[in-house]
Amino acid sequence: EKGTYPHYMMKEIEEQPFVIRKIMSEYSDENGNMKIQPEILEDIRNCDKLYIIACGTSYHAGLIGKQFFEKIAGKPTEVVIASEFIYNMPLLTEKPLFMFISQSGETADCRAVLVKVKQMGYKTLTLTNVKGSTLSRESDNTLLLYAGPEIAVASTKAYTAQIAVLAILAAVVDNKIDINIFKELGKIAYSMETLCDDKDNYKLLAEKYLKDSRNCFYIGRSMDYFVCLEASLKLKEISYIQTEGFAAGELKHGTIALIEHNTPVVAVITQENINLNTRSNIKEVKARGAATLVISMRKLSQETDEIVIDDVNELLSPLATIIPAQYLAYYAALLRGCDIDKPRNLAKSVTVE
Ligand code: M6R
Repeated sequence: EKGTYPHYMMKEIEEQPFVIRKIMSEYSDENGNMKIQPEILEDIRNCDKLYIIACGTSYHAGLIGKQFFEKIAGKPTEVVIASEFIYNMPLLTEKPLFMFISQSGETADCRAVLVKVKQMGYKTLTLTNVKGSTLSRESDNTLLLYAGPEIAVASTKAYTAQIAVLAILAAVVDNKIDINIFKELGKIAYSMETLCDDKDNYKLLAEKYLKDSRNCFYIGRSMDYFVCLEASLKLKEISYIQTEGFAAGELKHGTIALIEHNTPVVAVITQENINLNTRSNIKEVKARGAATLVISMRKLSQETDEIVIDDVNELLSPLATIIPAQYLAYYAALLRGCDIDKPRNLAKSVTVE
């Protein structure tokens, strides 16, 4: 039930701090240490490469998961869009492990890949929010997201739950950079709450930048780039504004041609090593008339940045930066009179290929 919330999407956005804490408690042992089923750890440690298969928002979480597996656990990982796998199967290594990420656990494109790789005799693991779902039943092992039912078509809390579970999983497999995931997730949950408290600001920004816009661009580098892909999908699916999220460095290779007077460009900046370059991309689009909106991390922020998030671990920063982006999409859709929880032409779970 959505209770006093005007829409499920708003309720689900605001549940995210609780979901992170719930995941931490579900994935801890009696001493408060991170815990994952031993057979899952064994499968990941034994494989020579992880193949993550997913669609839509879950694919975007997979892109972040790849960074965790490679940077934290040192495990080579490839992320493939489920519907493309069938035609362009990557050249597989000798001992692959297939990981499916799906909120619903019912997505037909993922199931088609699952059936195929099982026929080939490979091991499979599913990350899903729905216990007993098709993908969960048909794969060797399951990790649950514990996000609670997600009703709005636009995925919010399942995305952050997927990222949190992927971070925990990577760190339990192997923690080469000695990151304290639970400590960092605790900080994230707190920062999510602070971000949710600032929603009046996001509403004003949506009104100023998005209410009457035809299009919108999201730019970022590294972890921020992946968030831009998800922020862009969120905005387009519920507000029907044409959006594009891309690597900030790609601007000058084509997309900058689309920048006109007042074109909204949202830039995300959370990492020290990308700050200067993304800042210069902001200047480039500004010089061509863009209306820029910057989401930055406090330690890198400038006075004119519209949204500033608390300092959190850079690898985990997508969990925080996506919150204002979800609200921007929500308010843009609200101000444009769209059906937020049930956008046109879309279904919550896509059961056809
Ligand atoms: O249930 P799944 O995670 O497999 O669904 C995948 C996509 O259909 C889903 O993420 C879709 O992109 C959402 N509407 C995005 O908000």
